[in-house]
This record gives sequence, C-alpha cells and structure tokens, in this order.
Amino acid sequence: MVSLLENPLRVGLRQERTPEPLILIIFGASGDLTQRKLVPAIYQLKRERRLPPEITVVGVARRDWSHDYFRDQMRQGVEEFGSGLGSEEVWSDFAQGLFYFSGNMDDPQSYQELKAFLAELDGRRGTRGNRVFYLSVSPNFFVPGLKNLGAAGMIEGPLKTRVVIEKPFGKDLSSAQVLNRVVQQVCREEQVYRIDHYLGKETVQNLMVFRFANAIFEPLWNRQFVDHVQITVAETVGVEERAGYYDTSGALRDMVQNHLLQLLCLTAMEPPNALNADSIRNEKVKVLQAMRIADAENLERAAIRGQYSAGWMKGKRVPGYREESGVNPTSTTPTYVALKFLIDNWRWKGVPFYLRTGKRLPKKVSEITIQFRDVPLLIFQSAAQQTNPNILALRIQPNEGISLRFEAKMPGTELRSRTVDMDFSYGSSFGVATADAYQRLLLDCMLGDQTLFTRADEVEEAWRVVMPVLSAWDAPADPATVPQYEAGTWEPTEAEFLINRDGRRWRRL
Ligand code: BG6
Repeated sequence: MVSLLENPLRVGLRQERTPEPLILIIFGASGDLTQRKLVPAIYQLKRERRLPPEITVVGVARRDWSHDYFRDQMRQGVEEFGSGLGSEEVWSDFAQGLFYFSGNMDDPQSYQELKAFLAELDGRRGTRGNRVFYLSVSPNFFVPGLKNLGAAGMIEGPLKTRVVIEKPFGKDLSSAQVLNRVVQQVCREEQVYRIDHYLGKETVQNLMVFRFANAIFEPLWNRQFVDHVQITVAETVGVEERAGYYDTSGALRDMVQNHLLQLLCLTAMEPPNALNADSIRNEKVKVLQAMRIADAENLERAAIRGQYSAGWMKGKRVPGYREESGVNPTSTTPTYVALKFLIDNWRWKGVPFYLRTGKRLPKKVSEITIQFRDVPLLIFQSAAQQTNPNILALRIQPNEGISLRFEAKMPGTELRSRTVDMDFSYGSSFGVATADAYQRLLLDCMLGDQTLFTRADEVEEAWRVVMPVLSAWDAPADPATVPQYEAGTWEPTEAEFLINRDGRRWRRL
C-alpha cells in the first residue's frame, strides 16, 4: 500500500509534486470557512491538475444535509468566492468526489459510523486509507473531536493520517498547553498541522526568499542599521457575524498571537540551516524565546487597546463595536491593539518592533516596514535639505510588493533632495494573481510538508509572549478606560503616543 509520506523529498518550497490519493474530512463543513475558502481552494488545485483524480472530500457537520445539497452549497462557494467553475465537466468530476456525513462530534458512535463510511469510500474511490482530518470547528470541539478520533482508531501513523487544526489554538498559554497535551496523546507531532493562513500568503513566503536569496539586505538587517520595525495589519471589516467568538477573543488573541507574531518571526529570525520545516521552525521559536513586551512594569507605555465607535465607512454609517449585535454593551474586548516588543539577542537588542492591528480602520492593508537609522552626519544643512530615513516596505496585501524609500536630488541648479520610492510589484512583475493562502496550505499538508504550519512549542511561545498583556486586559476594567476610535479612522490617540514618545511615528499607509 502506498503511503502519503513515502516520497523522501521533503523540501520547504513547493516542488511540482502531486499528493497520493486521499480523503479530506472536514469537520464543521456547514460553516463559512468550508464554503468560502477550503472547497474553492481544493477545487482550484484540481483545476490546476495538482491533485490526483481520486481526491475525495467528506464534509462532516450536525445538519441533516444530503450529498447533493452539500455539493450545491460547495458549487455556490466556488462560484461566489473562488475563481469560478471553469468547465462544467471538471466540476462534475470533482463533485462526484464530494460527500456529506451528518454526525455529532461529541458522540463516539458517530465516529464508528464515519469510519465505516470512509472505508467504503476507499473501496469506491481508491483512496487507500489515506486521511487528512481538518478540524474547522469551534475550539470547544478540538479536545472531544481529537479524543474520539483516537478512540475510534482513526488516527494511524503519520504515514497515513494527518490532522489540521484551525485557529484559535487555545485562548491563553495554559489552555494551549492542555490542548497540545491532548494532541500529543492522540497524534505524533509529524502528523499535526496547526494552521495560520498568513503563512500561506505568497508575500509572507517571499519574506524568506527576499531575505535569504539576496546578498545585499542581510548585512543591514540588524541593530547597527535598523532603527525600528513596524508591522501593521489593518482591516476595514468590523466584527461581522462573529460577535460570539470575537467578544471573548479580541484583536490580541485573534490577530497578534498568531498572524502578526508569525510576520515578526520571519522578519527577525536568523537564516535557517536548511529550507525544511524543523530548521525554519527552530529559528522562529528562538525569536519568540528572546522576545518580551517592552515595558512590563508600565504596560500602558507598551500596549494600547482600542475599540471602534460608530462612524462612516465608504459613505455608509456603521455602528460602534459595543452596539454590534451579540457584543456585550459594556465589553472591554479590544478591536485594535498597538504593542511595542523588544528582542533580546545580538541581532536586535534595543531595536523596537511596533505592532498594530485593528478592525474598521480606513484601509485594508498589511505591511512590514523596516526603518533604517539616520545618516551619521547630515552634510545638507538647510531646512530645504531635510531628509527622511530610508524605509524598506514589504507589502503583504493588497498591491503585494516591496518598495525602498530613499533620497534623490531634485533636478535643477539648486541642491535639493526629495524622497522617492523604488518599487517592485507582484502584479506587474509576474502578471499573475497570487494564489489563495489555503490553496498552498492544503496542498502542503497533503504532501506532508509542515514548513508553513506552527509547531507545538512555537504556538506556546507565542502565547507566552502576549501573556503579560492578556492577563492585564482580561482583568475586569471600567469600560470607560478603553480608548475609542471612530470607525473609518486610524488608531486612538493613545496609540499615537505609544510610538511618538520614542520620537517615531506610525507610517501612514
Ligand atoms: C482571521 C481572523 O484569522 O484573519 C479575522 O480571525 C481576520 O478576524 C482575518 O479578519 C484576516 O485575514 P486576511 O487574510 O483577510 O488578512
């Protein structure tokens, strides 16, 4: 019998390989993620001929849906959120491999039935007992789901079975440790894929290529030349339909502990020895281990939270966070955070890393900004000669690309300079749309490549880094003490102070 991991080629960047035949079992298949992201991503892989013809998807959820109803829902998802059906023929071939199983994740009997159903599909579809279980469910179901899968004998070795766990992986350090223990009782680390979709974004992967495939940047990438780093992930959306989850989570848990810290790790890590999962993840863990919030004794100098109040977005009046349906009207959950971190190692000692993220900001934009130190001596003295520091901006989304800001002499007889940008844009250089993050991540998981997934120690270190702030903000507080910012505007003034106090300012994006 051929197993998933028999191919010994285990490299980080994608090789044109095709996974072995397998069944992808999605728990929580009636949810948004399956229809909007997962199935459109798998379908796109199918269209690009990256999957074997036997590929089979089984959606599992409580609702009493038929296979055909599930197929219709997924078709709508592909049409609305994916890149379209392409041809009716490809869709109908794909749809023949889509199945639905109505089950209760708390009930061990359901797993026995599912196990029998999967075995039957192996016979029909030639999937050879290979499984990827995708837990796209509320975090409360992670533990019972994993235990039940284990008890039903559905987790075989890493060669046959893989488990993908969606975020949030825990709600603090201790719950993540408990969850990791359960995961490790049931699975081996080599078969666990903790997903952070930011790692699947093309521009995030490009960070490594940019840093380690070019010789000219690395010598500058340290405390001697870098003044500070800013990482911004700004969103225009509000809490949408997710108040139930979001109001118990907030921006620090929802965005910083995972996405922003991953961006920071890739920016700050040492060059790995090799391009494989463990070498890269070892280096990321070392960054997290050396990291701390800048001022733990005076937390308000290093961590600011905020909430959006009512305002205007694209000409439409939108409610404030506390007025959103499902949100506690006296909630102190942050929809915005700004943080200052330090990394105590030789490369970064003393260089602040400022992170900010928020909902209902004026623009959807994610960027990593490396600001270099001023020139040691400015020989252009007059006011007209004022110069700006060099900035390297890595644009994660949208308008993906990289720009370098520097000073140039303005044409003319006078000696005057102006700040200009040298720009690389993915769109114009490569002329193709960047692939969806889930496409890349699902394929990597099917191929057995864990490079873009978070390891157990990594997820725990990331929680450890944010714990001082989380503990302070989880304590009951007077709602009036949480700074507000009007929807459609940038950060609350308090967040401006956080960086202005150091003689720096947030980059206007
Ligand atoms: C998710 C968060 O992980 O990332 C959401 O739960 C957030 O709150 C989303 O909106 C942002 O992802 P992207 O890819 O749109 O930047």
